[in-house]
Amino acid sequence: MALTPSDFDFVRAFVSGRAGIVLESGKEYLVESRLKPLATKLGFASIAELVAALRRTQDRNYERQLIEAMTTNETTFFRDIAPFDALRDHVLPPLIAARRPSRQLNIWCAASSTGQEPYSVAMLLAEHFPELRTWNVNFVATDLSEEVLERARAGRYSQLEVNRGLPVNYLMKYFVRQGVTWEISADIRRRVEFKQMNLIKPWPFFPQFDLVFIRNVMIYFDTDTKRAILSHIRQLLRPDGHLFLGAAETALNLDPSFVRTDYARAGCYRLAA
Ligand SMILES: C[S@@+](CC[C@H](N)C(=O)[O-])C[C@H]1O[C@@H](n2cnc3c(N)ncnc32)[C@H](O)[C@@H]1O
Repeated sequence: MALTPSDFDFVRAFVSGRAGIVLESGKEYLVESRLKPLATKLGFASIAELVAALRRTQDRNYERQLIEAMTTNETTFFRDIAPFDALRDHVLPPLIAARRPSRQLNIWCAASSTGQEPYSVAMLLAEHFPELRTWNVNFVATDLSEEVLERARAGRYSQLEVNRGLPVNYLMKYFVRQGVTWEISADIRRRVEFKQMNLIKPWPFFPQFDLVFIRNVMIYFDTDTKRAILSHIRQLLRPDGHLFLGAAETALNLDPSFVRTDYARAGCYRLAA
């Protein structure tokens, strides 16, 4: 049976309240395609029954699984490549020079999904900036979903996943083949600490960051939520730090304190002077 307007409204309000994700009218097909397998997995005969159970019981486990089902976890290694080129060629050299006295770097990758993005950054650091090996590099990656965080912490990827964006020399150097999967090396894995965090709920204590990646997540949020997140990041970013947004995202018209750098297609911002 198709999703009723009332069930769609319930799911929409639920997902917006819990995760900030906006489901516009017309996205009924998306809700159906995501919730049908979840309903079956949880033993309900239909989405209507799943929604009725959620309305009735407020079961935390159902709630979590529904939110996770409605998030989009699409990611790849070195996604869009331009931000990683900018990081290597323009952002890190002066940043490392400026931090040489303290030998400390703080990096945050928000909405890190299954880990390909923070691991891409960690591999790039290992490959091109070996001096950082003896520095105190505090690298935290966060996501709303415990399911993707678990996969990220395991650092195990299918052949299909490593085929997407990962240069073959990185695969050979930083992964170990385990049967049909590829496991990221312990050295890279231990450089990133994965933590659960909801961007629309109160934020935990964070240090001042040199680099913040929050890519391909704000597209799902409304304007007020984007503004609130950018304002929060503004307070956490060091004056000479950099913010990376996704290719389809922008801070322009949202927060004038961020100025876009001219590194081609990198989605890279600095704080206005
Ligand atoms: C499309 S993935 C982006 C992954 C990676 N940043 C990239 O660009 O490839 C979006 C991620 O945002 C996470 N997410 C969605 N809403 C969130 C929220 N309110 N707080 C934190 N993470 C959220 C999802 O769980 C998902 O893993």
